[in-house]
Amino acid sequence: MHPLELRRPFRLLQITDTHFCERPGDILASRVDTDASLRRVLDTLHYHEHGCDDVIVTGDLAQDPTESAYLRLRQTLNAYPFSFHCLPGNHDDADLLLRTLPGGNVACPKVLVRHDWVLLLLDSSVLNEPWGHLAAEELALVDETLSRHPAPHALVFFHHHPVPVGSPWIDRIALRNADALFATLDRHAAKVRGVVFGHVHQEFAAERAGVRLLGAPATCIQFATRTERLELDSLPPGYRWLDLHADGRIETGVCFLEDEALRATA
Ligand SMILES: [Fe+2]
Repeated sequence: MHPLELRRPFRLLQITDTHFCERPGDILASRVDTDASLRRVLDTLHYHEHGCDDVIVTGDLAQDPTESAYLRLRQTLNAYPFSFHCLPGNHDDADLLLRTLPGGNVACPKVLVRHDWVLLLLDSSVLNEPWGHLAAEELALVDETLSRHPAPHALVFFHHHPVPVGSPWIDRIALRNADALFATLDRHAAKVRGVVFGHVHQEFAAERAGVRLLGAPATCIQFATRTERLELDSLPPGYRWLDLHADGRIETGVCFLEDEALRATA
């Protein structure tokens, strides 16, 4: 590899909360055909070619977890030139998802290694509950992987937000054992650079003890920020990009489809 290549950041993409319904063309929240909105997002990724082929999909892949929804999602993702790495959310059935979704360029790995970075994909879902919990095995996986793996930098992905985002209704269904997560991450503070999640259907960025905490807009409907009750925002579908540098820095931002359209015509 050319020495300059080593200094180039590694580009990763996050899409989240695809909420595929049981039948194609079903409309979520009286607003969005979630099949069509996901394809619009994927078309944008495809056409802009960020020099990246890894996409992390952070949960709520199905609106109602049916085999047909997961199989159709796989077919949809199979049509695009990316590697999709998926984890479950509260709307999913983690076992059904694992049995039916993987195939072709779609997989559900727990650990990925890319350049100087190790990526951990955890399951925070609790069957039939909207809130999240990281089981002891998930936290043990973080401990073991970060103890033995030589990569100097780590990112952790799961579905539920680990800190309040300022909307009481969704903060009640956040990750319930965030203290245990952060205690685990603190043991590996020299490596952990960020925690990336879905669930909140909005852009979110904060920091805790030097660790970035990042939420992303959904590929379908967005939630209005800082509301007592669930209110939808009029923002279009979106996604997050992350540039991971060899020195551990993260550059990141979110794109909404209209932004992309404006940039494409500028
Ligand atoms: Fe969701």
